[in-house]
Amino acid sequence: MQNETVIVLDFGGQYNQLIARRVRECNVYCEVMSYKNSIEKIKEKNPVGIIFTGGPNSVYDEKSPHYDKEIFELGIPILGICYGCHLMAYSLGGHVDTAPVGEYGKTEITTSDSLLFDGVDKNTVVWMSHTDYIDKIPEGFKITAYSKDCPCAAYENADKKLYAVQYHPEVNHSIQGQQMLKNFLYNICGCKGDWIMSDFAKRSIEALRNKIGNGKVLCALSGGVDSSVAAVMLHKAVGKQLTCVFVDNGLLRKNEGDEVESLFRKQFDINLIRANAQEKFLGKLKGVIEPEKKRKIIGEEFIRIFETEAKKIGTVDFLVQGTIYPDVIESGAGDAAVIKSHHNVGGLPEHVDFKEIIEPLRDLFKDEVRQLGIELGLPEKFVWRQPFPGPGLAVRVIGEITEDKLAILRDADAIFREEIANAELNKSINQYFAVITDMRSVGVMGDSRTYDYTLALRAVTTTDFMTADWARIPYDVLEKASNRIVNEVKHVNRLVYDITSKPPATIEWE
Ligand code: XMP
Repeated sequence: MQNETVIVLDFGGQYNQLIARRVRECNVYCEVMSYKNSIEKIKEKNPVGIIFTGGPNSVYDEKSPHYDKEIFELGIPILGICYGCHLMAYSLGGHVDTAPVGEYGKTEITTSDSLLFDGVDKNTVVWMSHTDYIDKIPEGFKITAYSKDCPCAAYENADKKLYAVQYHPEVNHSIQGQQMLKNFLYNICGCKGDWIMSDFAKRSIEALRNKIGNGKVLCALSGGVDSSVAAVMLHKAVGKQLTCVFVDNGLLRKNEGDEVESLFRKQFDINLIRANAQEKFLGKLKGVIEPEKKRKIIGEEFIRIFETEAKKIGTVDFLVQGTIYPDVIESGAGDAAVIKSHHNVGGLPEHVDFKEIIEPLRDLFKDEVRQLGIELGLPEKFVWRQPFPGPGLAVRVIGEITEDKLAILRDADAIFREEIANAELNKSINQYFAVITDMRSVGVMGDSRTYDYTLALRAVTTTDFMTADWARIPYDVLEKASNRIVNEVKHVNRLVYDITSKPPATIEWE
């Protein structure tokens, strides 16, 4: 049976996938389609509702995207958001003008009686971001909300099930925005909410199976959440046609290599090649202290080893990447792409022949990927892993990387993580780890003088990892971690806690 489907018709707005995600949060299946798709394509999907997204243009721009007016005659409920709201007015005989003052940011609107505002306060705060506004609504429509600077913040023709809002209900700043979207889906489109994440998994696995046929698939497995979820999904789709290559670069956390291997080989029975390249990496890194140089060496070495392993399995048809939606946005945006290239260690291997890249998580947000991971049977512990940088512990060992420093760091880091988990802070703190500095200082242990390493503990809260705040960990948790580390890990006699936010610091120390 087909799920009830909502189409998010994309006019180039920055929040298009966020709208899709909000619809999924209401347990309604939805697909984002570009406005470049014909109306016939939309009809084929048999949607119960359509949402027009925002977009950067003015409806009067020559290049602005328009749509076949027939869409308003299909009897399918439509919700126009921002540009979508202008387009609806413009297409149906209303008028859009450029306002003398734009409205940006949190704005209070006053709502009136409408199915869209069921359960919504009369005065409620929404997120506005526009200069154009509607100065004349189409005939047969009525205005249902206004703000101080915007006489038409929402309008509708309830008989025709056409609704439009000037603001962005999908962003968190619109306090009751989710309620409005839910109202559209349930009250207006008549959705029942028959979609759950396991449907996404089923659908995607089936689609992957059809696409891949008898082809061979290669996946670079890092052990991180995204590549793990992608690998398991592919494995469910094509089983032994998939080979995963896991490069152990000697810069992983305590027991990490073995845990990854055991999970994928034993629990999932995935074809896994573990390339034990610890010595190669550490050899190349010998004497190197400059952080960017470390990254470059690791990136290049990763590609070399991945290629060598890939060649052993012969021709591959598809290469899997665990790209998720926030990566897609980052790579698309100017400078962000540059940041990304060093973040995604290795990038794409040049000498592995394959027909196509497969990115099964491309439309999902991180928390949805975690949800999917649980759905696919990955253990909680794996699914809730914090992000771990591609260059691994190399960027947490300040100065030269040596086996000794790595061993100290691994033990200390494991204790810190354990204490964070014991205090049940592991889901609320987004990243937490230890760093070994290149500094030694004097201490006293028993009756003896010590001259040992200073380690730092770093813990941050963040939603996007572009900015971050240092986590206010309770003192007793810090105390316990500190005591345990100096007592249990040799050659550490001093612990400091990093209390800088990002900016001006970064999350990693290198
Ligand atoms: P920074 O240190 O730039 O880190 O504040 C932001 C986030 O990115 C991770 N990070 C990396 N991830 N390769 C990666 O795959 C890298 O070179 C890299 N550097 C930083 C970092 O752990 C944090 O989550």
